Amino acid sequence: MPRNKLLVTGGAGFIGANFVHYWTRNYRRDRVVVLDALTYAGNPASLEPLQSLPAFRFVHGDIRDATLVRALLRDERINTIVHFAAESHVDRSIHSPDAFIHTNVLGTCNLLQAAREAWEADREATDFRFHHVSTDEVYGTLSRDDPAFVETSPYDPSSPYAASKAASDHFVRAYRRTYGLPVSISNCSNNYGPYHFPEKLIPLMIVNALSGAKLPVYGDGSNVRDWLFVEDHCRAIDRILRQGTVGETYNIGGGAEISNLDLVRNLCRLLDEAIGASRALQGTYPDCPAARGSSCADLITFVADRPGHDWRYAMDAAKLRNATGFQPDENLVSGLRKTVQWYLANEGWWRPLLDARYAKWVRQNYPDAGRT
Ligand code: NAD
Ligand code: DAU
Repeated sequence: MPRNKLLVTGGAGFIGANFVHYWTRNYRRDRVVVLDALTYAGNPASLEPLQSLPAFRFVHGDIRDATLVRALLRDERINTIVHFAAESHVDRSIHSPDAFIHTNVLGTCNLLQAAREAWEADREATDFRFHHVSTDEVYGTLSRDDPAFVETSPYDPSSPYAASKAASDHFVRAYRRTYGLPVSISNCSNNYGPYHFPEKLIPLMIVNALSGAKLPVYGDGSNVRDWLFVEDHCRAIDRILRQGTVGETYNIGGGAEISNLDLVRNLCRLLDEAIGASRALQGTYPDCPAARGSSCADLITFVADRPGHDWRYAMDAAKLRNATGFQPDENLVSGLRKTVQWYLANEGWWRPLLDARYAKWVRQNYPDAGRT
């Protein structure tokens, strides 16, 4: 018999998919149900290897669908909700905030309400948990000498994305205080690793460099982020579920701060090394400068800055470390190396995403193309 019954929302996205791989590998007896709307960021291919596991189920649906969510919680007797589903890209939130309000705020509220009903219907169950996956961006921005964010830092979100995540965090806490719902929250810094959609900095730079396309660095590239390898994030959530205290919030960070420009230069070095050392890769990626003996860094281009661009994020993760002993396994050097290797080995995963983007661009710019 399975022990835990998990509902993982957004499990076809970047972190959600990594989490489902992690969980099914480590807790084989648990039931894992993924609920994902398969927006542009959701990719069933990321879950392909799991489809044959009897304990795994994929449900194509929206967290805002109250009837569906209620039925899933009831029929699957879910006792653990790990809530990843969100619109997650800051730049998209600047152009079109609506989807962020709908999914991140209303969707989270819908899940909370359904969770509350399920939990109240079975108060005997002592192991119920709603874990909300949030971000360091709710705290706003830091200057060079500011101390890192702690869990009690005031919320000061800059982008519509960050504001929508801040709102969702507040609702999760309100459900704890008002109804006693057993919740926990984690606020994490920038993740990177396998299955990362190539609109975010690291995967975008890798796939662009391989195709010989420009590497667009916003502003002067001095903005600082703290990077955490995605599997470490999954392990941290696991620790919070098993050892964390209900009602608490935990910051998760990589302790790996770096400016965007330095990060991109590091990625270029890793790609130069990998492509320079392999005739096969030079044949596969002939447009990559490294295939011609030049450096991918030649592709770096400074472009207009992101409006409201937070300058620096840094997380103080002492509370999580003290409560659970959690420390990241990967450092930035080992994590970036693994990530570059993964993208080189998995072109079959990312290439169709670029082709889909190109097809969409053609549809938008040449709506009559292909019509007779
Ligand atoms: P992602 O954009 O890669 O994936 C989001 C997933 O949610 C997709 O599979 C998408 O189809 C699904 N989804 C979107 N709207 C939905 C809806 N209405 N109903 C059901 N499914 C829906 O995001 P990610 O980078 O994996 O981030 C996951 C979570 O972690 C988010 O809540 C994000 O705020 C948080 N987070 C991300 C990072 C990071 O660096 N990526 C860091 C800290 C926190
Ligand atoms: O900090 C956690 C957050 O990290 C998560 O909550 C978000 O969901 C996730 O998308 C990420 O947000 P960022 O805005 O930090 O990530 P992004 O990859 O979009 O950008 C990282 C930095 O790189 C940021 O300072 C902007 C810059 N950037 C980004 C892109 C896409 C560029 O310079 N050029 C680019 O093309």
